[in-house]
Amino acid sequence: MVNANNKRVVFIEGLRKRYGKGEAAVDALIHVDMQITPGEVVGLVGPSGSGKSTLLKCLGAVIEPTAGRITLGDEVIYDNNWKLSNLRALRRDKIGFIFQMPYLIQFLNVVDNVALPSMLAGRTNKEARKQALALLEALDVAHRANAMPSQLSGGEQQRVSIARALINRPPVILADEPTAPLDSERALVVIRILNQMAHQYKTAIIIVTHDEKIIPTFKRIYSIRDGKTHEMTGEGA
Ligand SMILES: Nc1ncnc2c1ncn2[C@@H]1O[C@H](COP(=O)(O)OP(=O)(O)O)[C@@H](O)[C@H]1O
Ligand SMILES: [Mg+2]
Repeated sequence: MVNANNKRVVFIEGLRKRYGKGEAAVDALIHVDMQITPGEVVGLVGPSGSGKSTLLKCLGAVIEPTAGRITLGDEVIYDNNWKLSNLRALRRDKIGFIFQMPYLIQFLNVVDNVALPSMLAGRTNKEARKQALALLEALDVAHRANAMPSQLSGGEQQRVSIARALINRPPVILADEPTAPLDSERALVVIRILNQMAHQYKTAIIIVTHDEKIIPTFKRIYSIRDGKTHEMTGEGA
């Protein structure tokens, strides 16, 4: 369980999300509480339609919650309303996203795919490529730096997308079913890498999954059902 003395990097209190209005309204999140410390990897599990992706999208400022509070580091970013005017900068600098599909840009080579968010954040191309190469090395794909995404295996592409998520050193990474297209051996490699990166860079990582092979690796798990979260100790503790 979270030690109350540890600094929280993510703190969610009573988050709600209702899609639509009136008769057609869907209460996707009814009451979500969550807290994560730097360097922690937590699992988010629950049946299809239980609100996992909705929660990640709210936390990543991709969609607007309906009520509740989200604190990121020392900053309250949402309190019944967004407390920031620049949500784009928040997404670029504070949050890394990893999806089920790597969504690499097909006409850029591997190193430029990884370097792009750093260039967009204002670093020079040379500096961004240097950072990208260092990350590709840490992820064991530096030998593919000049390849095009289509020339890579699924596991290699996912590692490139992890490097891209890490390049701006976000305090939080949100991973929505990141191992779904991989076989269980490669899925476990990706999870091991995410744990190493969390440890090395003190990044908090939330991994949505229903992969039976990787659930036992988590120390802490949030299970979500009917829009409400429940915290559990995982087998990896
Ligand atoms: N854009 C949307 N508009 C209306 N309802 C939505 C929308 N996105 C998701 N939902 C509904 O919200 C609930 C939670 O969906 P989602 O967060 O995608 O669940 P999960 O990722 O756990 O499968 C589901 O009932 C889904 O149909
Ligand atoms: Mg989903």
